[in-house]
Amino acid sequence: MFSEDVYILKESVFDMSEGTDFEQRAAEDKAIRSHLDLIGRKILIMSGKGGVGKTTVTINLANALVDSGCTVGILDTDLHGPNVAKMLGCEAGILQTDDGGNSFFPVQVRPGLKVMSLAFAIPDRDAPIVWRGPMKMAAIRQFLAQADWGELDFLLIDSPPGTGDEQLTVCQTIPELTGTIIVTTPQEVAILDARRSVNFSRKMGVAILGVVENMSGMICPNCKQELPLFGKGGGKKMAQQMSVPFLGSIPLEVSLMEAEDAGKSFLSLQPDSPSSLAILDIARTINSGTACSTSRPTDFMGTATCAPSACSTCSSNCSSRKGV
Ligand SMILES: Nc1ncnc2c1ncn2[C@@H]1O[C@H](COP(=O)(O)OP(=O)(O)OP(=O)(O)O)[C@@H](O)[C@H]1O
Ligand SMILES: [Mg+2]
Repeated sequence: MFSEDVYILKESVFDMSEGTDFEQRAAEDKAIRSHLDLIGRKILIMSGKGGVGKTTVTINLANALVDSGCTVGILDTDLHGPNVAKMLGCEAGILQTDDGGNSFFPVQVRPGLKVMSLAFAIPDRDAPIVWRGPMKMAAIRQFLAQADWGELDFLLIDSPPGTGDEQLTVCQTIPELTGTIIVTTPQEVAILDARRSVNFSRKMGVAILGVVENMSGMICPNCKQELPLFGKGGGKKMAQQMSVPFLGSIPLEVSLMEAEDAGKSFLSLQPDSPSSLAILDIARTINSGTACSTSRPTDFMGTATCAPSACSTCSSNCSSRKGV
């Protein structure tokens, strides 16, 4: 599986040699390709700001897609705070390896849903996880090269906040990335950071599948009325201003947070709640494949430069990311 010096905590700090030689990198690229070729759509979930609900959107979207008959993998690239396993209730999962120890099999959470997270490789969940930039890149590439997902309809890639090493590595390592989903809360400070995520996707030449406004109003657990805790509508307005699709608004519900803390599926517990209905709607849009940035970035000749697999209307002309 992983080489020992990568993931074994040494005095609370990961120790790992930086950089790889050319042959190793080429072999890794080949392995990455062979695994990713079996996967349909690969989607990066990102936000400029922390705590706005990337992981919430990722796991609930995954459950919704699985409920509709898709096979889904979740890759947790949050290397400092890998929360996916906890929120899915599969923290005790064990990564199995193949006979040669060259590949490992992501943890099966339920039929149709698999997860790969650093959480499965860390014995002490309270230990601080400290990485230097190049190590993160190597770790994510190692995840992609060694994880044997088998065939999947979707790979949802959860990421930490910001536009840093993790997002950059995903975009550069998965040239046929279908697109990004940008999660924000409605208030100005979150919107400002979300705009950076939109511009990051554009700069990387990756299509933007759309913006999700999370914590969009709070549903009072008693009277069920909606309160504008963080405001409402900021994400939608930003999406319109930046000419990217708006995927939907998920209200804040205390029971959603409780379900995630308990590692249970909120969609199963409360399928008719406003948040569940919003999530199901977003999943339908993603699954239908109609969501794509309406203002795709162009090169100096005006040719669309979004990911070829992202959009049926431009895929035949779009060559910007081929061979990246
Ligand atoms: N719509 C919602 N209703 C209730 N609780 C929510 C909602 N969205 C997120 N939460 C809760 O807010 C907290 C932060 O959410 P989450 O971990 O998904 O954010 P994140 O963007 O992934 O955070 P980080 O940047 O740390 O990775 C979690 O406890 C989650 O259960
Ligand atoms: Mg998260």
